Amino acid sequence: MSIRFDDRVAVITGAGNGLGRSYAMYLASRGARVVVNDLGGQADGSGQSTAPAQMVVDEIKAAGGEAVASFDDVSQFEGAGNLIRQAQDHFGAPDILICNAGILRDKSFAGMAMEDFEAVLRVHLLGTVYVTRAAWPLMKARGYGRIVFTTSVSGLYGNFGQANYSAAKLGIVGLMNSLKLEGEKYNIRVNTIAPIAASRLGAGIFPDEAMPLLKPEYVTAAVVWLCSEQCRATGDIIAAGAGRFAKAQIVESPGICFPPNQEVTPEMVAENYAGISDMTGAQAFDRSHDAVIKLFEMLTGRKEPES
Ligand code: NAI
Repeated sequence: MSIRFDDRVAVITGAGNGLGRSYAMYLASRGARVVVNDLGGQADGSGQSTAPAQMVVDEIKAAGGEAVASFDDVSQFEGAGNLIRQAQDHFGAPDILICNAGILRDKSFAGMAMEDFEAVLRVHLLGTVYVTRAAWPLMKARGYGRIVFTTSVSGLYGNFGQANYSAAKLGIVGLMNSLKLEGEKYNIRVNTIAPIAASRLGAGIFPDEAMPLLKPEYVTAAVVWLCSEQCRATGDIIAAGAGRFAKAQIVESPGICFPPNQEVTPEMVAENYAGISDMTGAQAFDRSHDAVIKLFEMLTGRKEPES
């Protein structure tokens, strides 16, 4: 199988550095026309510069690819709209959208100013919402879209000092869970990458000897696959780093079902807590409806008739 992106338009946020830069370079090398968006600020979101996005565009062009720079701030609704309009004016409606832009403002929760909490939510979660909202009607109208969001192990599993970042990153997974359903009939596939890479936002976290293994390029192959026409997956969370690729999922234990129409006390929950939280036979659900059906199956001891 050969994966190409000729005539495809790709918009990548935060593509002036690190992972986004690697995605942009790779997609362009496979024929995509790439909009390289980057506000060009510091890792904490302060400042701005046109240099990072422009440098990536220059590199792509020097290698014979097609790209244009966008310096819009995706955490602003207007900035996100400008970005998608620019893509449309320059290359045409986007086929591919990678929401990757990010900042960090780490601090323990008690010491974290609400401004730092909100700033991180605005860039990661609302930035993803705004850009996707601007691109969505264009993808829907054309019956085609490949969208990759960006989460983190901090959001999936927790990290001390990153309550703002974790909340934003898992919010993005919730957004994907519903958009995968809304996009299904328009061939819009929405997946989420959970990268581990030694780029700016990963700096200082990993031991020195691990750094060569953690090149962004080891994440890029999975993102490029998720952007391809051949990829039918939707709603997946793919963990990627150092050449390892795996799927992460939210699952529910079989649980304990008390007989209906009787009082359930906190003591009953306490006594059965080990059984309630026993993950043997845990199950993932494709949509909330399936979780409700499962509940009724357990209550009635029968399967719901197929509609
Ligand atoms: P990076 O700092 O190298 O790149 C992020 C880019 O986003 C920067 O160039 C920055 O200027 C841009 N950006 C920030 N705010 C923006 C805004 N409002 N509008 C437009 N651009 C903006 O970071 P890195 O490490 O490449 O991270 C990329 C994504 O991957 C982020 O979403 C990050 O949270 C996520 N991630 C990274 C991990 C890692 O190990 N590096 C781990 C888990 C997630």
